[in-house]
Formats: sequence, C-alpha cells, structure tokens
Amino acid sequence: MHNRIRLLALLLGIACSPLTAQVELTVHVDQPQFEISPTMYGIFFEDINFAADGGIYAELVKNRSFEFDRPLMGWQREDRAGGAGATLVENEQAIRPDNPRYLTVTVDATDGAYVLRNEGFRGMGIKAEETYDFSVLARNATGDLNLAIALTDTSGQVIGRSEVPLDAAGADYSAVTASLTADRTDARARLELIFTGRGTVELDMISLFPRHTWKDRPGGLRKDLVSLLDSLEPGFVRFPGGCIVEGRDLANRYQWKKTVGDVEDRKLIVNRWNTEFNYPRNAPDYYQSYGLGFYEYFLLSEDLGAEPLPILNCGMACQFNTGEVVAMDELDPYIQDALDLIEFANGDATTRWGKLRAEMGHPEPFGMEYLGVGNEQWGPEYVERYQAFTDVLRAEHPEITLVTTVGPFPDGDRFDYLWGELNKLDPQVVDEHYYRPPEWFLANAGRYDDYDRNGPAIFAGEYAAHGPSDDRPESRNNWLSALTEAAFMTGLERNGDVVRLTSYAPLMAHLDAWQWRPDLIWFDNLDVGPTPNYHVQRLFSNNAGTHGIPALANGAPLTGQDSLYASAVLDTIAGTVIVKMVNAGGQPAPLSVRLPGKTATTKANLTVLRSNGIMDYNTVGTPSIRPKTEQINPVGQGTKLTLPPQSVTVLTVTLE
Ligand code: AHR
Repeated sequence: MHNRIRLLALLLGIACSPLTAQVELTVHVDQPQFEISPTMYGIFFEDINFAADGGIYAELVKNRSFEFDRPLMGWQREDRAGGAGATLVENEQAIRPDNPRYLTVTVDATDGAYVLRNEGFRGMGIKAEETYDFSVLARNATGDLNLAIALTDTSGQVIGRSEVPLDAAGADYSAVTASLTADRTDARARLELIFTGRGTVELDMISLFPRHTWKDRPGGLRKDLVSLLDSLEPGFVRFPGGCIVEGRDLANRYQWKKTVGDVEDRKLIVNRWNTEFNYPRNAPDYYQSYGLGFYEYFLLSEDLGAEPLPILNCGMACQFNTGEVVAMDELDPYIQDALDLIEFANGDATTRWGKLRAEMGHPEPFGMEYLGVGNEQWGPEYVERYQAFTDVLRAEHPEITLVTTVGPFPDGDRFDYLWGELNKLDPQVVDEHYYRPPEWFLANAGRYDDYDRNGPAIFAGEYAAHGPSDDRPESRNNWLSALTEAAFMTGLERNGDVVRLTSYAPLMAHLDAWQWRPDLIWFDNLDVGPTPNYHVQRLFSNNAGTHGIPALANGAPLTGQDSLYASAVLDTIAGTVIVKMVNAGGQPAPLSVRLPGKTATTKANLTVLRSNGIMDYNTVGTPSIRPKTEQINPVGQGTKLTLPPQSVTVLTVTLE
C-alpha cells in the first residue's frame, strides 16, 4: 500500500477494531447559537479546464472571430469535387480595434464546392432532434455565391443540413442566420460551411448554438451544466476566478469592461491556462472569447438566486508567474474599474455603466453587495494596493462588502504576514484557500474553533482535497476526497458565526481539455458527471438551515473522536432540524441522536452518501455514487442509527 494511503487508512480508522460503544449525540434544538449566512455555500467559477468556452458557454464554433494568435486555428479548408476557393485573413484594426480580423472567402465552384470546416472544442457535441442556430456576420457578397451549412459526424456523414441566404449581405455587416436539426447524436461532430457558385464574401463571428440553452436564451449557456449548478442552490457565485483574474502578466489580466456589450466587440485574449502545464495538459487553443462575460455572470447569479461576488485585479499579475505589479502612481485605473463595476451592477439606467447594463437587457440593478480585491496575492505589495482600493471604495461605497485575500496557502509565513497586516486595516471578509491532502481536511475540522469571534468574516473561497488518483481524469475526485471534505465541512458549519462563505474549487472540467484536477463537475461534449464531492456540497448547501445549534457528544462537538464528525442546524422556515454526521472510519458507528425537549416529531428523513471503495469515483455519463434517502420512524428521545463505514449521513427531522 502506498505510504500516504496507509497513513490515511490509519487516520480513517480502517485498521481499528469495530466501534462497539454507542455515541450519544445531543442536538440542542432550543439553543440557536448564530444565524447561518445565506451565502454559506456558494460556487466558484473560473474559466479553467474549458469551463467557459468549450464548456458552459454553449457556443460550438471555436475561433469564431479569427482572433486566435493563429487566425485559422480550429478551421480547415477543402476544395471538394472539382470546386476551389481561397481565404484571406484581413485586419481592419483602425475601424474595429476589438475584433479587427475577418475572413474574405473567394469561391470558384460551379462544380463541386469549397468547404470551410470548424472542429469545435474537441469536436462539437450534437444531439439528435435538437435544433442548432447558425449565424454569421457577412458583407460584400459579390457574384453568384451560395452557402449551405452541414453538421457531419465523426465518420464524415451529414447529420443535419441547411441553406444560408447569403444574398442579404450588403456593404455593412448583417447577421445571416439559418437553423438545422440533427438526426443523430455525435460527440465529435464538425460544422461545414459549403460554398458553391462563383464570387466572394467577407465573414466574421461564425457561430452555432443549440436552440435549447439554459432558459432558452439565444447564445446562452449549456442547460445540463447550469442545471447542476442550480441544484446546488448556491448562496453566491464567485467569478471570474481564480488566477485568471490576475493573468500571467498585467496585459493578460481579466478586465471586465472588455467582456460586456455586443459579443462581437468583446476583445478576445489568450486564456492564462493555455500552456500553464506541460503536455498533454497544455491547450494552445484555449482563449477567452468572453461570450460569457460579466453581464452573463451577473445574470447567472440572479438566475440561481445567488449573490454575485466578482473578484477584480488589484494591479498585480499572478505571483506564481511574472509577479508583475502596476506602479502605485498608476493604480487609479484599476480602482476606477472597481467603481465602474459597482455602477454597472447597481447604478440606475441614467449612469454611464448602468445604461450599458440596461441596454444589454437588464434595466433593474443586479444588487451586488460583495466585491473581491485581488485573488491569491501576497506580500507588502498586496497590502499597499489593497489599502489604496479600500480607502476609495469604503469612502464612496460603504454599502459594498470588500473581500481580501490572505494568499494561496492556509498557513505559513505569507499567510501569517498578511493576516497580521490586513488585521490593521479592519478587513471585512478574508478569503482563505486550501488545496491540501485528504488527511489535512480530517485534521482541520476544528480549524475555526479558535478564530476570533469579533474578527472579519471568513470566506473559505477555494478548497479541495488533493489525494491519490489513477489515469482517468475524474479519479482524483474519489470518495476519499469527498468524505474528508464532508468531515471538514462539519467544522465550517459549526463555525458558521465566523465562516460566512465557502466554495469548492475549481468548479468544472472538460474531460478532454482539463488543466487542473480535482474539479467539482466533469463533463464532455454531451454529458455531465457530478462527482462525489458535488454531492457532498449539495447535501450541505441544500440543508444549510437558518441557525447553527450545538450537537455534542459527552459535552463536546464531534471533531474526529472515533473518526466521527458532526454539525447541526435549525431551519426555522421549514421547521426542521438537520444533523450532518460523517463516519470517516472503516467500521459501522452506532450512534443515537437525542433532541432534548422534543419528544415527538412527525417525520424524519435519513440521507446517506457513501461508496464501497474509498478510491471509487464517478465517471461522466455513469455517476454511480449518489445519495440515497429513506424515511425513518419519528424521532423522540434517542433515534438509534448506525452510521455506515466511510459515510456521510444527513438526518432531517420535522419538528412539530
Ligand atoms: O482553482 C484553481 C486555481 O487555484 C485558482 O485559479 C487559483 O486561485 C488557485 O491557485
């Protein structure tokens, strides 16, 4: 057995003798200690692992605007059956600085055809019976030119076809559209633009979307992926990251203003995860089209009933990369970006940025309450810049709660230094990150027990147990990682007076295009795969409750005694008490739950999440690890349970 796994097995109690003594857990329903924050369980979205382009953003055409460094990356050209043609990439920087390139197509195909083919993001996921909407900006069509589009499957067979009326293309760009319905499902389909006749035309923004997106918005988001987020009932959406906020250098940082307005005017840039890791995980075709931009992030947050929580660049590029910082006397534009973002989100439609939001379709403010300053920064250079931001933002927008970082690690010199320095600046919310081995999560269930009750709120902004894995991408999201995160989360919940926001990270990964694992949700072009970690998050989030209450064994919280962990909440709206229990050990654990003062209840549900093998994991398309719920007999003065080995159990009792 691998040494780390052996150590963990010991920690989990796999080698211990069976638990015979029954643990009595007393849940003090009548002693609400604190209100659970509505933002307690949220989501962290970053465009990493093809989470946005090629992922949740449902666009199927890669490099639709020819703005990748190699303008025809993702496109192939073919003279077919006697037809011929040529393409020329032209640049009109002076007129359209944010999307300067377009494609001039010259066709000589009175016989045969000239074909432009797009390969999609590792192919296109096409579903039988679904309708796909094609659009292209076209102008200056000359001669006698015809265009048809076709979807072809992996073997090149046509699975849907439609004519495109090019004759509407005059001197100015106009959107030419068509739609087709696929007759087969294929995970790696291609889109062909088939030109016949003779003539020329200029094209840009060649696009194909499924008609049925989340809320059926044209040009919208993948429904299956957003539905999984919706089921989490997240309290907030943190966006757009992550290191992507920082960029590898400042030129490559995330600038929200370049992500709003008409999609064709959003300036595409390279994705910083493009070649961050060595082959085979690098992705030279990874760019940010910003089709999913700040407006769409706000809209998504609203759709999910979640607080929007944007994080902005604070004048510092990623310190793991260039570590470039903007000179202090040139920081103002960065602070101005923050002020303008508040106006974009919350200003009325008469303000400059509020007007843009209204024109984009949302006259009502988004009601943003949180704003993060920097992602994983460290050192005095961060403190200085953070202070400059807070001086202005607190004076001008005291209604906005600011989030500050204490760097990438949960402890160590950088962490201690930042806590010390930031504490002098009276921070409101402090964002801690921990990517650590599973045993760390077990050992740290009491991490927040001694945090200052009068200090800043804690945002557990990025965390995940990083343990052993096999060759399959999803394998690091094994049951071991999910179980240990659940144990740790009971500690977050028990300390809900201090810990006010939490989010697992990263959120999503494409099976064929990932850079980082583990991730909460794996997907491919057709399917999704909620991980065991997803189900843990969902169990906590769907059962967040309204008030934290004590759950004590022998007068103390369960923080790993006999490998047991527990937390409890009251839900005053639903009239329930919810007890979360984790048995991290390898033996069944007899346990009785007492609710003093409550002698009878009408209903109790028991939900158990577990897997037989600690290294089991869910694969995309066949996610077998999922919770099972049963109704149990009414609970009185001691409900006797047996927590299965290595399991997460949620007991929900409806109070009279
Ligand atoms: O979640 C992946 C990365 O981990 C984030 O971009 C960064 O903030 C952290 O280091």
